[in-house]
Amino acid sequence: MATTREQAVEAIQMQAARDSGRDGRDFLREEDRRIEQLMLSAAGLVFDFSKHDISGPAFAELIALTDAVELDLAIQALARGDALNTTEGRAAQHMALRGSGKDEARKAQAKQELERALTFAEDVRRGVFTSSTDEAFTHILHIGIGGSDLGPRLVYETLSDPNSPVEVRFLSSVDPDAFERATAGLDPATTLVFIVSKSFGTPETTLNTQSAIDWLEAGLEGGIGRHLVAATSKSEAARDVGISDARIFEMWDWVGGRYSLWSCVAMSVMVAIGRTKFEKLLGGAQRMDEHFLQARASANAPVMSALVIWWHRSIKSCQSWAVAPYAIRLRLFSGWLKQLSMESLGKSVTIDGKPLDEPAGSVIFGGEGPDSQHAFFQMLHQGVDAIPVDIIAFADGGNDRHRMALLANAIAQAEALLVGRSKDDAMVELSSKGMNDVEARQLAPHMVMAGGRGSTFILGHLLDAESLGALLAFYEHQTFVLSVLFGVNAFDQFGVELGKKLASTLENEWSAGQDGEHDASTRALIRQFDQYRR
Ligand code: F6P
Repeated sequence: MATTREQAVEAIQMQAARDSGRDGRDFLREEDRRIEQLMLSAAGLVFDFSKHDISGPAFAELIALTDAVELDLAIQALARGDALNTTEGRAAQHMALRGSGKDEARKAQAKQELERALTFAEDVRRGVFTSSTDEAFTHILHIGIGGSDLGPRLVYETLSDPNSPVEVRFLSSVDPDAFERATAGLDPATTLVFIVSKSFGTPETTLNTQSAIDWLEAGLEGGIGRHLVAATSKSEAARDVGISDARIFEMWDWVGGRYSLWSCVAMSVMVAIGRTKFEKLLGGAQRMDEHFLQARASANAPVMSALVIWWHRSIKSCQSWAVAPYAIRLRLFSGWLKQLSMESLGKSVTIDGKPLDEPAGSVIFGGEGPDSQHAFFQMLHQGVDAIPVDIIAFADGGNDRHRMALLANAIAQAEALLVGRSKDDAMVELSSKGMNDVEARQLAPHMVMAGGRGSTFILGHLLDAESLGALLAFYEHQTFVLSVLFGVNAFDQFGVELGKKLASTLENEWSAGQDGEHDASTRALIRQFDQYRR
């Protein structure tokens, strides 16, 4: 008889109990084939899972969990384009955007629209498509929020170079400072406004679009039509703000916003980095897709990574998970990952709407490696909770002295988390520095680092378009696998809606000069807001 999910989880818990008191240090010493089994290669990246406090037998039980939840079938359904987003009756076909999976019809649709976007982008890049004053565009104002912003912004930050003929400014928030900053120094005559909104109804994007149109109109004599471009699944709404069909690129309801960076959503990035680089980004993602769709669970990097996160969340009750890319060009990475993972997995009910038996999703935090070492790494090393961390690094690129220092830091952090420092070692260290015994005994407890703290090390050769594509696709697949393990829908986000609705109620009340019905705290805040503005 097939093992149920409950039985598989119980077997994992029993193995965890048997392994209690031991960690990665012991398992690395005792398990002959640990490196061979837990250092995986996929799409040009190497993933080292061997430092985690998960023994070989525990990994075997985790693999058994993937059988119990029928992960294989879920992955096949994803590749086929089944309507996995059941609450909204939609497929999740982000893989089709890069030509992967088995959904031939959607792949063809995606390819055609991608070609349109790439062609238009090249025309803007080369100055073939010009402004209303017949000048080449020098800037793109990319307006969008959430998935319509974070992915393109990250790719732009990582892959654009200072020689690009066009600079992209991103505008997401309604903070008046955001608009000021995004348009500072821009000339409407050479600025293309690119509005990205799948729904074309997101309030932040609507307001920023109105302000951008006002800004264009104030600065341009002739029409502004050539300055407006959109990516949306609601072309009618885009037409209503004056965007012509030729400049409306299509998004589909079968791609979630946070999974959409592979499409026309990134048209501004295509302009900045050019067709070749953008296609390499897609190629890297495609290689990761192939790996994900073909490799067996124990050799499948996204699956193994998801199992590691699931272990820490469900077995070790660890609420958070850190990510530290040792690459300044990936400084926006954790922001992108936060939306991808937390908007996908921050749920309290199963896909069937039943309360979850165990928590799903982790709090993700992170930042660029060396900067993070001087910020939150202290807590990773000595905080009460053992928080797993993904360390991402690339072996080559740029000045060698700096590269070596960067990599030494990345590898040393993972090593320090694992080996820790005992009180005896601290005593030896302090006495070797000439400290007397009494003082050393007082200081040593503060220097103790528990060790045995797990990290996943992701190592690539070069940070380029291909490895970036592979890395981002890796996390998309990891998120999907986690959703299957937790039993939640990774593709809806109803939690973000109530706040939006209440914000619009407040705005309406304020413009009508009315007092609405609110709780005492909210009323007090509104009064205070009012007082400041009088
Ligand atoms: O934050 C909620 C959300 O719906 C995200 O999922 C999405 O990426 C973002 O808003 C923007 O949505 P749209 O592209 O429809 O403007």
